[in-house]
Amino acid sequence: MSVVRFPTGYRIEPLRRDHPRSAFRSGQAQVDDWLANKALQNQDKHLSATKVLMNPDGAIAGFYTLATAQVDFSDLPPDLCRRLPRRQLPVAVFAWLGIHHGDQGRGHGRRLLAQALSDCYDAGQTFPFVAVIIDAIDDDALGFYRRWDFRPLPGHRHRLFLSWSQLRAMAVGS
Ligand SMILES: CC(C)(COP(=O)(O)OP(=O)(O)OC[C@H]1O[C@@H](n2cnc3c(N)ncnc32)[C@H](O)[C@@H]1OP(=O)(O)O)[C@@H](O)C(=O)NCCC(=O)NCCS
Repeated sequence: MSVVRFPTGYRIEPLRRDHPRSAFRSGQAQVDDWLANKALQNQDKHLSATKVLMNPDGAIAGFYTLATAQVDFSDLPPDLCRRLPRRQLPVAVFAWLGIHHGDQGRGHGRRLLAQALSDCYDAGQTFPFVAVIIDAIDDDALGFYRRWDFRPLPGHRHRLFLSWSQLRAMAVGS
């Protein structure tokens, strides 16, 4: 998948202990708390991976977290699970996304989403999964994700998905 371009001076890095996590404010306390207090601990346990977008001043402009999970066959919509075995199925999870309030509205959210999907595509060629799942934190976040090809997962108000074949089509088409 193509590499996402960020504005000059901005760079993506895997989350480290010396990144200024506590200064990050997205306007969503749960998102800020995840980055400040939980993301690194989960990463150290190899439960999730977080990447930060650093601005030219060394502050965190945004971040995202990826993880893996399983969903039950019956939770997937019929067109996706038609040819899949009736059991728990592996999925990639786009678990968290946040942009610092002063950096919002400048395309960083869209770029981080594209970068995260690129990561998922690359990983999916070695460790297969059937879909990328997104857990939107609220209706506002849902509005952001619904702008792209994510579809609601039946029975889960804030859960969206992108099938592997959709992801592959995006990657091949890019
Ligand atoms: C939601 C969030 C990630 C968006 O990031 P952002 O950098 O401001 O978004 P972008 O500038 O990349 O916007 C891309 C497009 O989405 C639109 N958009 C942004 N936020 C939106 C929202 N909440 N609902 C609908 N559309 C939205 C923008 O208008 C823009 O549209 P355009 O292409 O027509 O210009 C950011 O506002 C944020 O961190 N919010 C608080 C935390 C949160 O809700 N995280 C997500 C759930 S974990």
